[in-house]
Amino acid sequence: STAGKVIKCQAAVAWEAGKPLSIEEVEVDPPKAGEVRVKITATGVCHTDSYTLSGKDPEGVFPVILGHEGGGIVESVGEGVTTVKPGDHVVPLYVPQCKTCKFCLNPKTNLCQKVRVTQGQGVMPDGTRRFRCKGKELYHFMGCSTFSEYTVVLEISLCKVNEAAALDKVCLLGCGVPTGYGAALNTAGVEAGSNCAIFGLGAVGLAVALGCKAAGAKRIIGVDINPDKYEVAKKFGVNEFVNPKDHDKPIQQVLVDLTDGGLDYTFECIGNVNTMRAALEACHKGWGVSVIIGVAAAGEEISTRPFQLVTGRVWKGTAFGGYKSRESVPKLVDEYLNKKLPLDEFVTHNVPLKEINEAFHLMHAGKSIRAVVHF
Ligand code: APR
Ligand code: ZN
Repeated sequence: STAGKVIKCQAAVAWEAGKPLSIEEVEVDPPKAGEVRVKITATGVCHTDSYTLSGKDPEGVFPVILGHEGGGIVESVGEGVTTVKPGDHVVPLYVPQCKTCKFCLNPKTNLCQKVRVTQGQGVMPDGTRRFRCKGKELYHFMGCSTFSEYTVVLEISLCKVNEAAALDKVCLLGCGVPTGYGAALNTAGVEAGSNCAIFGLGAVGLAVALGCKAAGAKRIIGVDINPDKYEVAKKFGVNEFVNPKDHDKPIQQVLVDLTDGGLDYTFECIGNVNTMRAALEACHKGWGVSVIIGVAAAGEEISTRPFQLVTGRVWKGTAFGGYKSRESVPKLVDEYLNKKLPLDEFVTHNVPLKEINEAFHLMHAGKSIRAVVHF
């Protein structure tokens, strides 16, 4: 057994901002108290990984092992760990759920703050790290670091999932899919018969569409500047498509005209402050709700005329779809197994670890919905 020993394995290391990842042999320490060492078998690649790699993330620290959309198998557990054991299939969670902090105890939020500060600094709660490469310590990322064959995460950042589910699919339940799906179902609370518009038809926007469809929405309008997205979006429930580039009028005006005064629900899944404004202003007077899901770059600000809110539109935001992570992700895995939540359709590309940079290229080129990296 490898328990208690340092493990040498392959990982994609981000040595510095703006450079491609480099495949290296890294050393992974055994888990300390409250920690779990996980053998990652598959991981998605997400915009947040790319954003931090670009160097624009003010919290970004290097060298680091990125990745936060993984699936794996528990290799060994540290002292006091009771909720998972070696051999369990698990999904690491960048929003933990400690079940004891003020946030966890409040049903209105999923934003557990137990380890917020150290997670942001790229270290474990005791201030130390578990990765080394070429004599240097590497930082952790979002409490997950799934771009390594073995990683160490906190027990509170891990959920056990049904073994019948393929890890190279349920890894997507670590970020993109719950983020969109939950935004529709939890944050917006879309009702049957509603009219919805989704700005941005990437993985997040398509997951919103699934949520709107599950809630029984009537019109699900996809808004994207890439016309290639419509064909694929139909499979996820989008039943109308608007390309802002086909219109001279502002997109909010186009949508208001199309829907007799505006949408019941709109979702921003791009991360652009201009489309955030457009999404709010495309909402119906009196009751329209707009949810911000896309993450804008640090320092960006949103604006609109306050009249938009005075007259009954509501502006909201959500992280991880409002799901309390550890209790919800196993249920989403069951929905996947019961064929209620399609995940396979999100995976457009599969690549081995050594081609992880290609997965980033596919994402930037708008060619993939999700590229999954296999170890
Ligand atoms: N108007 C309409 N659509 C746009 C615009 C725009 N101004 N700009 C970009 N898009 C479309 C792109 O063509 C693409 O289809 O938005 C979509 C974004 O999808 P992805 O790049 O695949 O991103 P995704 O993984 O879905 O994540 C969406 O959420 O994680 C956050 O901020 C992060 O940007 C990311 C967003
Ligand atoms: Zn908590």
